[in-house]
Amino acid sequence: MNGIKIRGTGRDVPKKLVTNRDLEKMVDTSDEWITARTGIQTRHHCGEGERISAVTAEAAHRALEDAGVSPEEIGACIVATVTPETLVPSAACTIQRALGLPRDIPCFDLNAACTGFLFALHTMECLLNASPRKFGLVVGAENLSRVINWADRGTCILFGDGAGAAVVECREGWPSVSAVLGCHGNDELLRLPGPEAGEPSYVSMEGTRVFKFAVEAVPWCVDQVLKKTGRTVEDVDFFVFHQANARIIDLAVRKYHIPPEKTYKNIAEYGNTSAASIPLVLSELREQGKIGPGSRVLAVGFGGGLTWGGCLIEFA
Ligand code: ACO
Repeated sequence: MNGIKIRGTGRDVPKKLVTNRDLEKMVDTSDEWITARTGIQTRHHCGEGERISAVTAEAAHRALEDAGVSPEEIGACIVATVTPETLVPSAACTIQRALGLPRDIPCFDLNAACTGFLFALHTMECLLNASPRKFGLVVGAENLSRVINWADRGTCILFGDGAGAAVVECREGWPSVSAVLGCHGNDELLRLPGPEAGEPSYVSMEGTRVFKFAVEAVPWCVDQVLKKTGRTVEDVDFFVFHQANARIIDLAVRKYHIPPEKTYKNIAEYGNTSAASIPLVLSELREQGKIGPGSRVLAVGFGGGLTWGGCLIEFA
């Protein structure tokens, strides 16, 4: 099987910025608590008249521009999301129309919560191997502000909206992203009921237990990806972790002895954006020139499902 590499990235977030001080006026919390326990300072929420579909299409459009790839060259489009604006049409079909992607390609949404972008990368690698077109669009997009329970101060301070996108290319002889993916059906630790579930469509979470799961899952995924690829920490230019809590990232970095200069956090600005969080980091790293052609990034995600996953991603 041929592998994929990322050729371009893009991102977009809603304009409305919600600070910790803003939240102090809405719920019983404090800037000090949120900063110390999570590392979050601000998050973007879709405000009046702002639509996540437009934010998502803009991120995808920027990724195509960055890659220098035209919409007609795209062979598949996957949007990882748990909060699509509409269930039908899917967010991916909405992008297809907005950007003028070809009609004879698969466009669909994928739900693996915060690990969605990595599940989508692996799926895209499989799809492009069977496609005459060699480029694919992989997007992570969330409108989590829509599913926040404002009566739960343990979760309402965490989530943000946004979208990150990557254009990938598949070529003979390129290494696979070597995805390590897993799930553990669990509806107690993290839940977001759908519209027909007979309960409010809000995120609920047993934070401390999810925290414990995450600090074990992240180093395990790093380990598995390195073993699968035969690489070492030295071979990796950047380690990109799902931005759920700065303390989870710091603990994983320490546990695996990852040099701090090889990690990156943007949770302070965006909060937890679920499936959008890894591509938001990739896009910022690329824009800042920290990664580019030839770079190797080890990305790890974890979240609702429970799901977890890791990939070794190269840049074309
Ligand atoms: N402001 C002030 N105090 C608060 C707040 C708040 N916003 N939230 C909770 N507290 C209080 C609690 O009431 C509790 O008080 P008590 O000791 O008097 O009972 C105290 O702070 C500690 O609460 P905990 O819930 O134990 O706080 P914890 O340190 O575990 O932090 C958090 C909570 C931030 C949610 C953390 O557990 C976490 O990050 N968990 C992992 C989240 C995650 O990784 N999610 C995965 C992806 S999400 C997805 O898939 C959509």
